[in-house]
Amino acid sequence: MSIVRVPLEDRSYSIRIEPGLLGEAGRLIADLGIRGRVAVISDRTVSGLFAKTLIGALQTAGLEASLFTVPDGETSKSLSQAEKLYTELIRFGLSRDGLIVALGGGVVGDLAGFTAATLLRGIPFVQVPTTLLSQVDSSVGGKVGVNHSLGKNLIGCFHQPVLVIMDPLTLDTLPMRERWSGAAEMVKAALIRDAVFFERLERELEDWMVLEDAGRLSEALAACCRIKAEVVGRDERESGLRRILNFGHTVGHALESASGYGVFRHGEALVYGLAWALDLSRTFGLLGEAVFQRVDSVLRRFPLPPIPESVDAERIVEHFTRDKKNKSDGLHLVLLNDIGRPVIRPVRDFDFRESVGRLLNRQIINL
Ligand SMILES: NC(=O)c1ccc[n+]([C@@H]2O[C@H](COP(=O)([O-])OP(=O)(O)OC[C@H]3O[C@@H](n4cnc5c(N)ncnc54)[C@H](O)[C@@H]3O)[C@@H](O)[C@H]2O)c1
Ligand SMILES: [Zn+2]
Repeated sequence: MSIVRVPLEDRSYSIRIEPGLLGEAGRLIADLGIRGRVAVISDRTVSGLFAKTLIGALQTAGLEASLFTVPDGETSKSLSQAEKLYTELIRFGLSRDGLIVALGGGVVGDLAGFTAATLLRGIPFVQVPTTLLSQVDSSVGGKVGVNHSLGKNLIGCFHQPVLVIMDPLTLDTLPMRERWSGAAEMVKAALIRDAVFFERLERELEDWMVLEDAGRLSEALAACCRIKAEVVGRDERESGLRRILNFGHTVGHALESASGYGVFRHGEALVYGLAWALDLSRTFGLLGEAVFQRVDSVLRRFPLPPIPESVDAERIVEHFTRDKKNKSDGLHLVLLNDIGRPVIRPVRDFDFRESVGRLLNRQIINL
């Protein structure tokens, strides 16, 4: 089993990764010393696939566990859904010595984590991520929250899980498009922190996508978790270093919102955002041509929907300006000096506008 530690003093926890680990989850959770009831929160698809195994494992370990399901998809990340869960969980008798378990992708993780953070002023929670994106990114780091009608992830807080249990075999049923979406975050992780892992990714990316070898995939998941754990361990609340985890995300998010949510999976928009950030890094003379070409050829291996013609550069610039207003020190973007070496730079509106023009004119990552 790979074990990655997230070092956060009294909030430290471990991420356990192993094929078949879902069946062991009862024992791992019982070892936490939980005395109260356990509420497993999941979505309809994931609960249909894995809830029986997980609840069975919890009950075998002597825990009183019950399942609470929400509809699939981003719309479940809402205050109204959280409120429904509060009612069900209070009726269930969940107490502060109980536990919430998030079984699913990033939507369930963010919603269940937010519910755990707020109900009874905070209940411990465990993440059992079942999408590649949630295994390599969202289940680690303690950012939890829901959406608001004015924007994604606007309501939330930091609430670290007490344990993360990852079973790469759960990815078997995950649609291919979702796997590639998660892989975008793996590329991001390698680019900001780990040149050796990037080399491995260059060799093995397609093998991971078809889940060819669960052992090697587990090692890749652990490498990503190690990167995130190290960054979060040094800057839990994103006052500095943690910003590098947003590499590629300014334009990625803007593209997601400007094209209307639903066109891109998060990771697909992120690939465009990464390509944009690389292009700007090269334009600024930060990144050499050879490295640029190397990373660009990895990004071209992703199957991506084209950017819709209807996406207007102004919408993307608007998003950028809004982000800038939200920061007292102007908008600093994460760019790249080399693989594994990010730099944070202020970017002028003019340069931003010009590079977005290049992206929309298909001069960047020309498909
Ligand atoms: N908290 C963070 O740090 C953080 C970081 C990145 C993303 N996020 C959030 O994560 C969310 C996206 O997460 P996601 O990409 O995992 O999407 P998701 O949770 O919506 O899952 C995608 C789809 O896959 C299904 N699914 C999940 N696991 C499956 C499996 N093993 N087999 C078959 N189907 C399965 C789900 O039912 C869902 O329909 C967004 O809301 C985003 O804001 C949070
Ligand atoms: Zn992301």
